[in-house]
Amino acid sequence: MQITLTQKERLLLEDQKSHEELCIEKYTVYEKQAIDNQLKQICNANCKVERSHLDTINQLLAGNVPDINQNQNQNQNPMQNLSSSQASGINLSDKDMCTDLLMTEKHVSGSYDTAIFEFRDTGARDVLNHIQKEEQKHGEAIFKYMESKGMYNVK
Ligand SMILES: [Fe+2]
Ligand SMILES: [Fe+2]
Repeated sequence: MQITLTQKERLLLEDQKSHEELCIEKYTVYEKQAIDNQLKQICNANCKVERSHLDTINQLLAGNVPDINQNQNQNQNPMQNLSSSQASGINLSDKDMCTDLLMTEKHVSGSYDTAIFEFRDTGARDVLNHIQKEEQKHGEAIFKYMESKGMYNVK
C-alpha cells in the first residue's frame, strides 16, 4: 500500500533510520569484540533483524507500507561491511557491551512507541509496532544472557 507521509512522519522515520543504522554498527562491532561465543551469536542474530528493520524503514520512507507477514525474509540488505579499524576504537568488556546494547534497545523501543502515536495510517502503525516488538525481543535476549552470566542483578 502506498501512503503520503506528513513532514512529522518523515522526520520520525529519519530518526528511526539513524537508530537502526547505529544498531547495525553496534552489533557488527560487538560481535567482533565479544569474547564469549554465545554473545557473538546474539549480536549476529539481532544484527540480521536490525537490517530488516532498516529495510522496512526505507520502504516506509518511500511511501510504501510493507506487509509485515511477508516481511520476514527480507533480511538480506547488504549494509556496508565495517572495516576492522572501526571495530578497534574502544575495547569494552562483554558486560559493558551488553549494558550498552540493552540501553540502546530500550531507547529504540521507546522511540518507536513515541513515533507510532504520530502516524495516520493504520498499516504504518502496525509495521512500526511489529518492529518495536522485535526490539523488545532483542532486549530480552540480552537481558536473559546477562542474567544467566550473573551480569544483571534482579534482586
Ligand atoms: Fe531495530
Ligand atoms: Fe533491536
